[in-house]
Amino acid sequence: MISAELLGWYDRHARTLPWRVPPGRGQADPYRVWLSEVMLQQTTVAAVKAYFERFTALWPTVRDLARAPDEQVMAEWAGLGYYARARNLLACARAVAAQGAFPETRQGLTALPGIGPYTSAAIGAIAFDRPETVVDGNVERVISRLFALETPLPASKSEIHEIAGRLTPAKRPGDYAQAMMDLGATICTPRSPACGICPVNEFCEARRLGIAPDLPRKAPKKAKPQRSGRVWIGFSTDKVLVETRPEKGLLGGTLAFPSSDWDGSDLPPPAPADWQELGLVRHIFTHFALDLTVMSGELTSRPERGRLVPLREFSPGALPGLMRKAWALARPLPARPRPDVA
Ligand code: ADE
Repeated sequence: MISAELLGWYDRHARTLPWRVPPGRGQADPYRVWLSEVMLQQTTVAAVKAYFERFTALWPTVRDLARAPDEQVMAEWAGLGYYARARNLLACARAVAAQGAFPETRQGLTALPGIGPYTSAAIGAIAFDRPETVVDGNVERVISRLFALETPLPASKSEIHEIAGRLTPAKRPGDYAQAMMDLGATICTPRSPACGICPVNEFCEARRLGIAPDLPRKAPKKAKPQRSGRVWIGFSTDKVLVETRPEKGLLGGTLAFPSSDWDGSDLPPPAPADWQELGLVRHIFTHFALDLTVMSGELTSRPERGRLVPLREFSPGALPGLMRKAWALARPLPARPRPDVA
């Protein structure tokens, strides 16, 4: 049985991660499971660890997080990307605190802000030991290989989900879900899977056919549209001009330098200044790639937008990645001490 082999392997080789309980111990704290899952949708396990430790040190329970000021949570999220998730995170924490606890059912979980089918299944399995079908990118790869699925992703998703449902055991579904993830992350890796030491290699059809590294097949990706714009980093002696981006839209609610609309339209700068071009920063968003020309200058009159913040109170660590890259170009300019990025 695939699930029995996998659970046995997990008992011996489970990765120790800050949000986990050891194999065989059953339910983990739903708050920690939820927080880690939302963070893991953004970036790698290695990058999430530090954010997770910091969040849980600041806010040990969902009630603590629910009471946190929006700006502090946004600032702590900075660098993780996709800021709509941080806003949903807070909305979800507040909804859970109002209800008293995390709901245990899929229906109850999916009704919460920012919790979709994947996250509700992961919380259900890992925190409440319910036999939910948990399918992330790792699981898609493992199943595509075990069953030598030739249909490319994303067309194969429903078939993968159906197979994953049949494989999920009634006992220890949380450990099983995490065993699949660990297998995908450490052995059944995208480019050169370590089939020789795989605990389920005897069941693997792709290995038998010699095509494991070629699966899952993927439909060709469409090229992202390229957009461009300008960002203005204005100084007024020992102050820098920043603004909070509108709640709705890209990087909503984050700390930023004033910028144009990123559609190539020529918005005027936020204030008159001796603007100079410092260079270009590139950033890839989900639906487009952005080239921002970074301008910097000493303001010659009051700005029409944004607020001037004393440099000693300005923390570049609270900026999202794109704005940090822009700041990194402005920081070495002479004349005044500038806080370091990060
Ligand atoms: N990726 C998403 N959730 C995970 C988890 N609980 N453990 C390891 N990797 C993960």
